[in-house]
Amino acid sequence: MPHPKLFTPIQLGGITLPNRIVISPMCQYSADDGCMNDWHFIHLGHLSYSGAGLMMVEATHVTREGRITHGCTGLYSEHNEASIKRVIDTCRRWRQMPIGIQIGHAGRKASSQVPWEGRNWLTPEQSPWETVAPSPIAYGEGWHTPRELSKDEIHKLVEAFVSAAIRAKRIGFDLLELHSAHGYLLHEVQSPLSNLRKDEYGKNRLKFPLEVAAAVREVWPKERSLGARISANDWMDGGLGPEDAVTYAQELKRLGYDYVCVSSGALVPHARIPVEPGYQVPFAEKVKRAAPIAVQTVGMIADPEQAEAILSAGQADMVVMARAFLDNPRWVWHAAERHGIKIDYPPSYARSRFDQWPGSKLARPQWQDESQVG
Ligand SMILES: Cc1cc2nc3c(=O)[nH]c(=O)nc-3n(C[C@H](O)[C@H](O)[C@H](O)COP(=O)(O)O)c2cc1C
Repeated sequence: MPHPKLFTPIQLGGITLPNRIVISPMCQYSADDGCMNDWHFIHLGHLSYSGAGLMMVEATHVTREGRITHGCTGLYSEHNEASIKRVIDTCRRWRQMPIGIQIGHAGRKASSQVPWEGRNWLTPEQSPWETVAPSPIAYGEGWHTPRELSKDEIHKLVEAFVSAAIRAKRIGFDLLELHSAHGYLLHEVQSPLSNLRKDEYGKNRLKFPLEVAAAVREVWPKERSLGARISANDWMDGGLGPEDAVTYAQELKRLGYDYVCVSSGALVPHARIPVEPGYQVPFAEKVKRAAPIAVQTVGMIADPEQAEAILSAGQADMVVMARAFLDNPRWVWHAAERHGIKIDYPPSYARSRFDQWPGSKLARPQWQDESQVG
């Protein structure tokens, strides 16, 4: 069996990931005024011994008003910073693995309900707050109309990103990612559907994201890793497309960024997205062919063979998975067994290795079902 690409290391800026499997950032909507709590110990704790090459921490917001929901994490206060440091230090005490954090601002999609309460805008009884965006255009029908950001506020937001990056640096994250996709502020400002400004931030829709990117680059250490999640398609006439992602990736590379994660959608609620396994892989491939930067692909990847096929065909450099890890935190262990690779288990769990069970010639129970998207 040839050595699978999935299990080869990759250098990202100043750090090396031991393999190319990345746990996607996933909001937990369970924080207290931006602070992590016991839920995050459980969630990140168990994923931190998953064997993945990189674990990303959820979208963490640079201002209080920039949170998506009341339950989102933030890096806007010293309490936020201390709470996150406590969780990350604990993960590190037991398992060494690269850990990154995604920072962002929700823009006009802030002040939302958590998914299990409806995922809509907060109603007057739910303590909503004023949202801000490049232009006063609501995300969808019924949503809060955001207030248009002044130039002064835009400059202050650049500083907020820098301040969050400095907090992330102090916590000790190996990698920092700008959330520039999924219809949040750094994406809104790029799309002609949500940015109708007449000033320089409208004439050059990459101006604000690149100002943030450059300012963050200044404070984020070169010996760690820096990247961005970008959007390759608004799935709407007149919206962003793959060429825009290529341009953005090239600019980020020019600024000294180490990688991009290519995603799409969520700028408007009514877009029709042809979701199917690996549906965003062609966007990653396009960016990879056009921009000299490491590329992650994400979206409907769940099966180890599928993941390996993407990497060995050179369509992306890393595979990023979200729901597959919620479904099966042992994804990496099982993929390694399937590919005949020996990986390091936490000592207390070493006896779970199926290939070492006495007389284990049997196929792993439920193996086929475990790795499929539901
Ligand atoms: C519970 C949950 C929370 C998510 N939170 C984030 C987030 O914080 N930042 C982000 O960029 N994407 C977020 N996403 C999107 C995922 O990172 C990923 O892009 C998407 O789920 C597609 O990948 P998948 O098919 O492997 O789940 C979230 C997805 C889920 C399921």
